[in-house]
Amino acid sequence: MTNTFTPRVFSGIKPSGGLTLGNYLGAIKRFVGMQGEMETIYCVVDLHAITVWQDPAELANATREVAAGYLAAGLDPEKSILFNQSQVSGHAELAWIFNCVARVGWMNRMTQFKDKAGSNAEKVSLGLYAYPSLMAADILLYHATHVPVGEDQKQHVELTRDIAQKFNHDFKSDFFPITQPVIDGPATRVMNLRDGSKKMSKSGESDMERINMLDDADKIAKKFKKAKTDPEPLPETLEGLKDRPEARNLVDIYAALSDTYSDAVISEFAGAGWGKFKPALADLAVDRLAPISDEMRRLMDDKAEIDRILKQGADKARAIAEPVLEKTYDLVGFLR
Ligand code: TYM
Repeated sequence: MTNTFTPRVFSGIKPSGGLTLGNYLGAIKRFVGMQGEMETIYCVVDLHAITVWQDPAELANATREVAAGYLAAGLDPEKSILFNQSQVSGHAELAWIFNCVARVGWMNRMTQFKDKAGSNAEKVSLGLYAYPSLMAADILLYHATHVPVGEDQKQHVELTRDIAQKFNHDFKSDFFPITQPVIDGPATRVMNLRDGSKKMSKSGESDMERINMLDDADKIAKKFKKAKTDPEPLPETLEGLKDRPEARNLVDIYAALSDTYSDAVISEFAGAGWGKFKPALADLAVDRLAPISDEMRRLMDDKAEIDRILKQGADKARAIAEPVLEKTYDLVGFLR
């Protein structure tokens, strides 16, 4: 018997610091694009955030900030399920079962763990190491078939497929779907504005490396103006950006913000110097981001309303998750 799965999207963002332009272009903007195409579930993954120490008050604030970002960018609680992970206990319960399915060797291959742990691997939390197994539980608790993510999460979604396959094999079932990562568009890896070899992240050393969703117009303009580039003007074709990572990044950001492709941006700006391109990029970014950040600020002033939306979303999420978890328990042989 082969199981057929309803097309369903699941994705999430960690509330570990503020939202960046990388989160917006690589994730949230694409989440909005999938809303209405199929069932969509978007989570604020607070259990993931505490794999690294978080101040409790800041965690609560960052959780509301991600939720506000979702809403301000156009996710609609009537069309998508929006909630924070810790309100649905099934995530942690399924993750334990997956901890017993996944192999230590698989975890040892996770490049993000190696990058984050660095030479300090003995001192990081056990949670940070087990994190990809929790991510698999997030996805498979809802039998999600499609997971929109940035490039950096690809390996974790592939691991989710391995876990689903091994569970299905070990328990002689076809219970979990083999999920598709959805990694498309010009900005699936937005890079650091000061170093084109590193991705833009919430936790980089300098604030000048990233655009935060709550940055004001002056800050956005200043950061793009100071962004590292090379002295060459923009080339005639995309090929010409091959060994110019910083230039390529700014072109990709422009393309994603204007809903077009990087080669279309190159055609428009062929031969232009940075004195022309950077102000155009800053104007575009302010034009697209200011309405979102204004709305985020407005939403964050009404904490009770955000909390209400998250709770209502959690109730809907739980209704999908509970039967999946029960069936998983049956397959494993747990008495209830
Ligand atoms: P997180 O919180 O680091 O990032 C959230 C989403 O934003 C994307 N992203 C980027 N995309 C393009 N360029 C960048 N510079 C950039 N930085 C971040 C990420 O790829 C991601 O899509 N483990 C995940 C959260 C998670 C999850 C899940 C995702 C937990 N469970 C289940 C999908 C499904 C994470 O830490 O993402």
